[in-house]
Amino acid sequence: MAAPQGRHENIPEYLSTAVVLIDGGLSVRYLNPSAEALFGVSARQIVGLPLSALARGLEGFQNAIAEAIASDAAFTERERRLCTYDARHITVDITVTPLPPGEALLECVQLDRHLRISREHSLITQNRAMREVVRGLAHEIKNPLGGLRGAAQLLERELEQQTLKDYTRIIIGEADRLQALVDNMLGPYSRPQRRRLNIHEVLERVRQLVQAEAPPGVRIVRDYDPSIPSLVGEFDQLIQALLNISRNALQAVGTDGTITFQTRTQRQFTIADTIHKLVARIDIQDDGPGVPPELIDQIFYPMVTSRAEGSGLGLPIAQTLVARHGGLIECVSERGRTVFTVWLPLEDV
Ligand SMILES: Nc1ncnc2c1ncn2[C@@H]1O[C@H](COP(=O)(O)OP(=O)(O)OP(=O)(O)O)[C@@H](O)[C@H]1O
Ligand SMILES: [Mg+2]
Repeated sequence: MAAPQGRHENIPEYLSTAVVLIDGGLSVRYLNPSAEALFGVSARQIVGLPLSALARGLEGFQNAIAEAIASDAAFTERERRLCTYDARHITVDITVTPLPPGEALLECVQLDRHLRISREHSLITQNRAMREVVRGLAHEIKNPLGGLRGAAQLLERELEQQTLKDYTRIIIGEADRLQALVDNMLGPYSRPQRRRLNIHEVLERVRQLVQAEAPPGVRIVRDYDPSIPSLVGEFDQLIQALLNISRNALQAVGTDGTITFQTRTQRQFTIADTIHKLVARIDIQDDGPGVPPELIDQIFYPMVTSRAEGSGLGLPIAQTLVARHGGLIECVSERGRTVFTVWLPLEDV
């Protein structure tokens, strides 16, 4: 069946993201209703005027856009503070995508309300308590873990069937991984064991582990960008970080739902004041009920939990581990769509 004629042309009108189209002379050509609402100006008033008329704070940004158009390279500018046409102060992430020949599309996402960014320095410098808790927990884990591994080894010797031995191998393998992780947590000043790895190696391992825990009604969908270059990192730490996020997704969807693992790359991306040429973006999305709104600003802090049996450590640990790789975890959540995004720099860190 043919698509209804012309309908797709109206799509920007329905987007909740603010979209602005500018021409090679850096004048506004089009803005969608979300952009009108965000900048407090109607298309009629602003179309044809220079981009800088849209909001104060965009002046310095124009050179970067002109460069992006000239070099046909997209980029994202994070946390830009602007004063809108109708004089409101907002903070936005702006993604600039050149549209040859000579135009550019600006997608603006307002951060003030929707997004909670928890950064390495805020976690580590402002939150010493968390590190104490993590160290305490690491000590608690260490001893029973040794017992668990030893018992699995004894059991393995008694087993004859290879299929049963596969299970003890998993126990021993996972105990070793946790042991390495705990050692890392206890020794904050020691250099972790880094090696070159592909993020899909990590994700596939996490997927296997989550799949094994998932009820039959939960689907795990993969949408990988196979061209993502390798990075230098600590395998066990990255598994733990992504596992903590994925387990939350699993708990959120309950017995029936979909969890999606998506990978992409992004150029020119700023994380904790450092501009990276290339970063990996790993989205773990679920269609569960969403993060309770009263918790969304705090979920990366320790002991923040909505689950009776939760310790509220999964996300702060994940954030710390990702921060050690120069990366960052962010979350956007609404009913039916929660996305945890892990950003990891792809140059050697
Ligand atoms: N995918 C998600 N959907 C809905 N809520 C979530 C999701 N991920 C995290 N949360 C919320 O964030 C809280 C904190 O998560 P975190 O992983 O830090 O702790 P926890 O899961 O409660 O306990 P644990 O230490 O066992 O991981 C959760 O209790 C939950 O309220
Ligand atoms: Mg958790």
